[in-house]
Amino acid sequence: MRCWKAAREAPCVELLPFEAGRAASPRISGRAAFGDPMSTRTIAAMLAEAKALGLDRLDAQALLAHRLGRPRTWLIAHDEALLEASLATELRRDLRRRAAGEPLAYLVGEREFHGLMLQVDARVLVPRPETETLVDWALELLQVEFAALAQPRVADLGTGSGAIALAVKHRHAEAEVLAVDASLPALDVARANALHLGLDLVFLHGSWWEPLAGRLVHLALANPPYVAAGDPHLDALCHEPALALVSGADGLAALRVIVAGAAAHLEAGGWLLLEHGHDQAAAVCALLQAAGFQALQTRADLAGLPRCSAGRLARKV
Ligand SMILES: C[S@@+](CC[C@H](N)C(=O)[O-])C[C@H]1O[C@@H](n2cnc3c(N)ncnc32)[C@H](O)[C@@H]1O
Repeated sequence: MRCWKAAREAPCVELLPFEAGRAASPRISGRAAFGDPMSTRTIAAMLAEAKALGLDRLDAQALLAHRLGRPRTWLIAHDEALLEASLATELRRDLRRRAAGEPLAYLVGEREFHGLMLQVDARVLVPRPETETLVDWALELLQVEFAALAQPRVADLGTGSGAIALAVKHRHAEAEVLAVDASLPALDVARANALHLGLDLVFLHGSWWEPLAGRLVHLALANPPYVAAGDPHLDALCHEPALALVSGADGLAALRVIVAGAAAHLEAGGWLLLEHGHDQAAAVCALLQAAGFQALQTRADLAGLPRCSAGRLARKV
């Protein structure tokens, strides 16, 4: 008889303890009879447990679907299927971790970003949808402002999982994309993603512009840490690396360093695109202006919040 151990494993044969001696049962199978002692192990019962833990239904379904290696639609059609005890135990552990605030992406090991499926874990920030605004803006500039360049050079400062760098390279293959991070564990994740996706990036370890060592780029993007130390929102983000989140007393420390170093590392006419907090646009634009940037603009994310600001360097300083 077929049973299912875990996501992406081959079907196997396994007897459920309560059924030994009568009929073999799959790790997921059949329907729970009313009053059946195993009814707490149906998919429906597991979702009810998740609800009692305060979990979002979609999150709970995503965790179940991941463990079972089945699409969410299958769960909906088979909510009375029985789960083998060890699988139910694994699922309960996932549900508890999620209820304790661990990002869903870490539990399932992946997150979609700009059409690419990225592997993520606790070494990197989970890529956020708002960062796609930055990527879209970069792609626009590459297609319009830098269209004449055979090989535009692009830097992603603070690459983390490689999300921005990989999305740009994926959509603009002719660009040379440099992916910088101060965290070696993060660079390992980004390298693995690049390998998995077959995208060729240049990885550089070090702080912001430093590892570029004399290389000039046409376009630089950064989604740096921008949360102020002590911000109460950090409690909810405690599973993600502090290096990816916190930046000085006002959240602007990394943005100041990046803006200050830009003129020395951008080609004349080069653009610097920055993601920032929804309440930091004015401060970031002031930094850009003071550093000699022109054509300053701020763009909103999908939620309508001012999320990215950018400027063009008029000349070398
Ligand atoms: C907010 S995360 C962004 C990750 C990724 N770019 C994204 O958008 O999902 C910031 C990244 O900056 C990196 N970082 C922090 N300080 C840095 C520094 N001084 N130099 C280079 N990277 C740094 C962190 O390791 C982290 O990967």
